[in-house]
Amino acid sequence: MTEKLEAVLKEDRVFEPPESFRRSARLSDPAQYEALYRQSLDDPEAFWGRVASELHWFKPWERVLEWEAPNARWFVGGRTNLAYNALDRHLAARRTKAAIVFEGEPGDSQVLTYHDLHREVSKFANVLKGLGVKAGDRVTIYLPMIPEAAVAMLACARIGAIHSVVFGGFSASALADRIKDAQASVLITADGGYRRGSVVPLKNNADEALADAPGIQSVVVVRRTGEDISMQPGRDHWYHELMQNASDVCPAEPLDAEHPLFILYTSGSTGKPKGVMHTTGGYQTYVYLTAQYVFDLQEQDTYFCTADVGWVTGHSYVVYGPLLNGATTVMYEGAPNWPDPGRIWQVIDKYGVSVLYTAPTAIRAFMKAGEQWPLKARLESLRLLGTVGEPINPEAWVWYYNVIGKGRCPVVDTWWQTETGGIMITTLPGVHPMKPGHAGKPFFGVEPAIVDASGQPVSNPDEGGHLIIRRPWPSMLRTVWGDPQRYFNQYWSQYPGNYFTGDGARRDADGYYLIMGRVDDVLNVSGHRLGTMEVESALVSHPAVAESAVVGKPDPVKGESIVAFVTLKAGRAGSDALKGELKAHVAKVIGAIARPDEIRFTDALPKTRSGKIMRRLLRQIAAGETDIKGDTSTLEDRAVVEKLKAGE
Ligand code: WTA
Repeated sequence: MTEKLEAVLKEDRVFEPPESFRRSARLSDPAQYEALYRQSLDDPEAFWGRVASELHWFKPWERVLEWEAPNARWFVGGRTNLAYNALDRHLAARRTKAAIVFEGEPGDSQVLTYHDLHREVSKFANVLKGLGVKAGDRVTIYLPMIPEAAVAMLACARIGAIHSVVFGGFSASALADRIKDAQASVLITADGGYRRGSVVPLKNNADEALADAPGIQSVVVVRRTGEDISMQPGRDHWYHELMQNASDVCPAEPLDAEHPLFILYTSGSTGKPKGVMHTTGGYQTYVYLTAQYVFDLQEQDTYFCTADVGWVTGHSYVVYGPLLNGATTVMYEGAPNWPDPGRIWQVIDKYGVSVLYTAPTAIRAFMKAGEQWPLKARLESLRLLGTVGEPINPEAWVWYYNVIGKGRCPVVDTWWQTETGGIMITTLPGVHPMKPGHAGKPFFGVEPAIVDASGQPVSNPDEGGHLIIRRPWPSMLRTVWGDPQRYFNQYWSQYPGNYFTGDGARRDADGYYLIMGRVDDVLNVSGHRLGTMEVESALVSHPAVAESAVVGKPDPVKGESIVAFVTLKAGRAGSDALKGELKAHVAKVIGAIARPDEIRFTDALPKTRSGKIMRRLLRQIAAGETDIKGDTSTLEDRAVVEKLKAGE
């Protein structure tokens, strides 16, 4: 018992890359990493120019980088196309190789070769053109994890339309907000999608959203579940019908390197999600290289990332990174533990997956379900494991390494963000010893630093501070869609000339970074980013709620759970029924991922004399700490805290 407890709290072991892995790895010598890393910082233009020239350019760039903080332009003057690089470029050597291997939640499967995917993408690109979509237009994609999601993204990239993928778990009103913000004219959705044995009514949600987002002129509907849905004549079209008549010839558009590729909404510290915008040339170059080195992608690999395409991990490492490398990428539609916790391990055996990339929250859930599930599977094909999205506790890391990887697969703990586009900090699997809980070293071209509030680098190893990035990298976000001021304020104003990540971190004497988590009002619930203010504004939109404050509480599986402190309007009384109603209300406004785990009614919220809610106190109270530490001298009314602690 004591032994187990210690493993939870502390893990000092260092794991060398397994010899069997190292022998065939792309990079296996720390000196190689050091030399490449040096080059990438000493002469970034030469380094990135060399990488980019492995891809196809219709017109070469004139300059690799133009940088005047906070505006970066990569491969200036060059013309390229990501869909060309992900598809056409592979046709000569990999025409019949599987590009996408799809597993539906009900157990159906489908394989698309590079030839197939190229054809489907070309056809759908023509469909989009037929609907009047032009380069620069925004197309919203609200689909389950089915191959059509990748087809739609690549078809947009092929003609220069900007895609905005909205996670299928988001509600109608969240979808409407994102459509309106992007001013999208076309929506691609499905009748439904499978999730935990039931059907997510995507088209119904879309109809509800469109009542509030009239800018959408055409809706393309993929038939997935066969639900009875309504189709509005003139506006709504079946995907399969449009595809039937579409030509399969659609040359890839030579696009400017800085042509916008996609917008992806993510939570920040205000109530309104921001549309992070990425562009073509730099993004493709960076995700190509990171996928290649971090996952050690080789010709015979079958690569499986469990993320949904609605998140950035799905963009960069389900679709674009693997396909740019000519790899086989597995897409799985449903929940990894449906109908039982053995599902994900069955999928790995079924397709012979060699590289697995998933989230700590999933690993912790599998740990909780028990070893018997992975032990039923062979898992012999695995050679490399990865995690992303939140800090991984050493105990879960060691479990992943031993029980899933059988001590034979290195684990890469990859730190990055929607804004960074690609992996920024990680160990390289054949090169670096692994320290559970530490993400590791910066990737090529990335220059991180840890600074105090005044911007001074912290002076000692293991001293915590804010994580910043000192120079631009190719897949850096270029702006917040429609709001350049917010782009500047959010990322570039705290530490002028440096990108501020919003994360706290420390670095040890070996140069390994350990990410401590967000330092702003952003929660990380099961690896999903959520703003506390987003949840608060959903709560106060309920007629019974006067005010609310939302905080995260440490959770053994989800990382953080959501606790909402709520004051009610006069005349309204708190009850269990109302708690249930408020939780359902938040799920309706944002989506089930934002449903509070706990609602606590209170007469008042602790505030400073200037009226700011003291979240730090609430976090301590939510975590059940009885001894409230830190400075409470600015607290307006001490009695409020005593009452909250007593659970009144
Ligand atoms: C957190 C997901 C610790 C971090 C790709 C970051 C991590 C936020 C890790 C971005 C990791 C991501 N270790 N924390 N390996 N990876 N995070 O935009 O707080 O959904 O700022 O991108 O997740 O979340 P996002």
